[in-house]
Amino acid sequence: MARPRVLSGIQPTADSFHLGNYLGAVRQWVTMQETHDAFYCVVDLHAITVPTEPAALRRRSRVAAAQLFAAGLDPERATVFVQSHVREHTELAWILICLTGMGEAGRMTQFKDKSAKFGESAASVGLFTYPILQAADILIYQADKVPVGADQKQHLELTRDLGQRFNHRYGDTFTLPEPYILKEVEKITDLQEPTAKMSKSSSSPAGILDVLEQPGPLRKKVMRAVTDTGTEVLFDEDNKPGISNLLRIQSALTGTPIPDLVARYAGQGYGTFKKDVAEAVVETFTPIRERAEKLLSNESELDRMLAVGAERAGAVARQTMEQVRDRVGFLPKF
Ligand code: TRP
Repeated sequence: MARPRVLSGIQPTADSFHLGNYLGAVRQWVTMQETHDAFYCVVDLHAITVPTEPAALRRRSRVAAAQLFAAGLDPERATVFVQSHVREHTELAWILICLTGMGEAGRMTQFKDKSAKFGESAASVGLFTYPILQAADILIYQADKVPVGADQKQHLELTRDLGQRFNHRYGDTFTLPEPYILKEVEKITDLQEPTAKMSKSSSSPAGILDVLEQPGPLRKKVMRAVTDTGTEVLFDEDNKPGISNLLRIQSALTGTPIPDLVARYAGQGYGTFKKDVAEAVVETFTPIRERAEKLLSNESELDRMLAVGAERAGAVARQTMEQVRDRVGFLPKF
């Protein structure tokens, strides 16, 4: 039996991944390469749905790819590539766009949230069709599973709907993918605002822990994380959101269950606990940063690794698209 296939994507919209990306996506991707036929892409086409500087896009795409390899994705086992290198994504997206109802696309809550920031009429049509491009990313590889954060559930439902619609209209072509959502990492929150998600778009620098950050600033941010009145290290989401977030982080990084951590820090106050959280973060991020820096110091080698990924991904995507073109009724080109 072939291994089940997973596909996921991450946007190159920042100069570093943060702890939420790492725990919620990247680390999970690394684990899944052992048991799955894994495809992971840096979704640069998605990044330009909002205004993006070309030089920043180029830099961030390489930074994203370098961090993926540095975090443990092995180019021998996983197919890591840049979305725009496989032109078929946009071609399939167009076909799926033609299968999507205006109302259906208009119900996507992420579009509503993101476009609200610009004012709805200033948002690009690309932002509107973003989830359909995402559906194309997934369907083109016949992915069985899609490891994503809970905020992507609606896009996954749309993906299944579009795949099913295509299959129904044109004949069985696409695998319908299942979302794969890890519960305990859903809730890494902002260190300064522990009831809000840690996010590159809304967190202040002090609230976010970046993978490529130096140990000094990382330690400082953890030590200054907003905690709650009281002195006991207890897991209580409602009354102690700050400490609860740090407990979740420490548990995720060290593999120690939260109740064991609570027992270990009983009677010790916040200071010792925070110091240990800071160390766990630094220990996790430092080797990744060092490997990423090394990869980024040799761009042509990094680009070559991405070319290998694009070649493997392209072979699958071309195969799917040949079938899709034929089923839709496009003439073969001789
Ligand atoms: N929309 C996803 C996010 O913001 C990124 C993404 C693009 C993606 N294409 C994908 C995720 C395909 C999974 C599969 O996180």
